[in-house]
Amino acid sequence: MKEIVKIFDTTLRDGEQVPGCKLETKEKLKIAEKLDNLGVDIIEAGFPVSSPGDFNSVVEISKIVKNASVCGLTRAVKNDIDVAVESLKLAKRPRLHTGIGTSDSHIKHKFKSTREKILERAVDAVKYSKKYIEDVEFYAEDAGRTNNEFLALVCEKVIDAGATVLNIPDTTGYCLPNEYGEKISFLINNVKNIDKAIISCHCHNDLGLATANSIEGVINGARQIECTINGIGERAGNTSLEEVVMVLKQHNELDLNTNINSKLLLETSKMVSELMGMVVQPNKAIVGENAFAHSSGIHQDGVIKKRETYEIIDPRDVGVNKSSIVLTARSGRAALAYRAKGIGINLSKIQLDKVYDQFLIFADKNKEVTDSDLPNIIKLSKI
Ligand code: KIV
Ligand code: ZN
Repeated sequence: MKEIVKIFDTTLRDGEQVPGCKLETKEKLKIAEKLDNLGVDIIEAGFPVSSPGDFNSVVEISKIVKNASVCGLTRAVKNDIDVAVESLKLAKRPRLHTGIGTSDSHIKHKFKSTREKILERAVDAVKYSKKYIEDVEFYAEDAGRTNNEFLALVCEKVIDAGATVLNIPDTTGYCLPNEYGEKISFLINNVKNIDKAIISCHCHNDLGLATANSIEGVINGARQIECTINGIGERAGNTSLEEVVMVLKQHNELDLNTNINSKLLLETSKMVSELMGMVVQPNKAIVGENAFAHSSGIHQDGVIKKRETYEIIDPRDVGVNKSSIVLTARSGRAALAYRAKGIGINLSKIQLDKVYDQFLIFADKNKEVTDSDLPNIIKLSKI
């Protein structure tokens, strides 16, 4: 039996921080319901102290979510925690997410403080949260650039204070995969009470490494990944949910899986993209328009003979009906015959040669050749 990696979705918190992505409560409710059906384990619904609107969204989301834990973010500040506790009152499974920056850069420049004082604030915040909510997750902001010994000390003390999940964010997206993996491994081997908590990966994508880093994190012992639909989030975004879910699903040798119903990935991606007004790039892994489209002759020939020659995922597994064979000037005869057959025209070898010449003339002038262009091309080739 594969071990489960929990999926902590932060589309409605880290994702919604993106300029232009702000949502109304009713839109957030639609997304929360979708995420719950998708099978995410935790929905980070917002940062309740940040605005009355966000507070209200967390309250309303708490009322409707049936299966997932509902989580509210706070700083290591009593008032933040009080407000978050209030907003989560109606959640079936409330989780409080509190924390503080632990890197020397954050300690010196952001807090103008010392490691000792930051450690004290971290412990106090967890102890205070624990008075009201059992499930407390602690984040060590900028853990990616935090000294490992100090990070291990912080983790040990916040676990003693009651934290059940330790979030190790690569806040600035700086880490290399091996470096991030070694950090998680260091914590597993050097935090003496680590068996009382699970480690969570929260990776940003500034260098395009968020998915790789999260996967390296779970290979090294983390058991939760924080991610967003379509990878939206601050700056270059967060780890993309659909990517990590499919990496774990496709790589049996990792012996890991998630509770996500992958068949709902495409429709969830579309809903988030539409409501947030964030277009998904066509070449985006898993959910991009071209993720299962084949346009070069060599690839098309292979896919028509056997899909697996150029596809590692069955498109139906992520909610895409089927792979598509796109006709362009780079397409070959196999693709042309396949698409002609699709509209009910079976071409013999001789006919195909003639139509193909005509097809290339047309395709060189147009970006794509559609089904409605084909009858005319066939007519012009006088077969
Ligand atoms: O990137 C980050 O460090 C965060 C924390 C607030 C969890 O989003
Ligand atoms: Zn973040």
